[in-house]
Amino acid sequence: MTDTFTVLGLETSCDETAAAVVRLTGGRVEVLSSVVGSQIAAHAPFGGVVPEIAARAHVESIDSIAARALAEAGAGYGDLTGVAATAGPGLVGGVMVGLSFGKAVALARGLPLVAVNHLEGHAVSARLGAEIAYPFLLLLVSGGHCQLLEVAGVGACTRLGSTIDDAAGEAFDKIAKTLGLPYPGGPALERLAEGGDPSRFTLPRMLLGRKDCDFSFSGLKTAAARIAEGLSSDADRRDLAAAVQTAIADQLAERTDRAMKAYAQRHEGRGLRFVVAGGVAANKAVRARLTETTQARGFAFYAPPLAYCTDNAAMIALAGAERLALGLSDPLDAVARPRWPLDEAAAAASPTHLAGRKGAKA
Ligand code: KG4
Ligand code: ZN
Repeated sequence: MTDTFTVLGLETSCDETAAAVVRLTGGRVEVLSSVVGSQIAAHAPFGGVVPEIAARAHVESIDSIAARALAEAGAGYGDLTGVAATAGPGLVGGVMVGLSFGKAVALARGLPLVAVNHLEGHAVSARLGAEIAYPFLLLLVSGGHCQLLEVAGVGACTRLGSTIDDAAGEAFDKIAKTLGLPYPGGPALERLAEGGDPSRFTLPRMLLGRKDCDFSFSGLKTAAARIAEGLSSDADRRDLAAAVQTAIADQLAERTDRAMKAYAQRHEGRGLRFVVAGGVAANKAVRARLTETTQARGFAFYAPPLAYCTDNAAMIALAGAERLALGLSDPLDAVARPRWPLDEAAAAASPTHLAGRKGAKA
């Protein structure tokens, strides 16, 4: 049996159509190609992602993006050991496009299919840039998710805390909108905040002092929107952007600090590793604040290379390769799931989001 896994990854759960080829040899990871086709221009006029437009755009470009990923890797379908596609959570019309494409490749080429949880992709994304042993404490901060998890191994996650309302990226995006910034708001708000005075406006620090590791951003969003209404100059808006960014970074760091304390006790102070992943991990102020917390608690700090913070297929390919290396794969009738918590037991027992028709969200 080979110990080299060369996997085509496919990612179509939101507004990026992405394909990548990743090779896993023993513990060594090589990204042979990573192609991301952004749909930002298609969604920008609507100020956010329109699911119907996203699904159509995925259909139109998945063929050519997958072909480019193979070409840039210098590989053909015959060189692959497996194919990994995001099977959820996400906008289900888009998820079905990538998953169906993956199934077709698997069937036509006789390759094993891995139906990857997008969040597991984010969880392994830092391993694309550094060797990181299990277990580790993970802060997953993206447009749809904001959670602290203990990751013991492939697919073995325990949720320590989760947002009770918006995700951190969602808060960035919504507040950016009230500041008149274009979609996607996170990077735009970060640029506006440069040179701003974060201490000029006082914003609420939600849930601080609470004993759990949950997050909340709705109060911050409301307070920032109220202040934004009364602002006139660019300097005002810069200061508010800086205050918002600092408030979000502070909340993430305070909750992470709490989780680190408990994690360090459970692990008796040994092998303390912290990983931050997801789109918001691209934010420099957030990274800086978390680095301070990490150092103070004696953890090693890891974040994915910037290109692998936001959605990409290299992380999906790696998650797939890690599963294949353990002998795990999925049947060709694997379903696309709009909701798919990483810690299914915790999400079912105590959903911080109401479960709704589709099941627990996070
Ligand atoms: O991981 P991701 O690409 O997609 C999801 O799985 O949700 O994360 C996208 C989110 C968006 O909310 C975006 O505004 C935010 O990450 N984001 C940022 C930055 N870059 C992306 N937020 C703050 N600062 C950034 N530099
Ligand atoms: Zn994502």
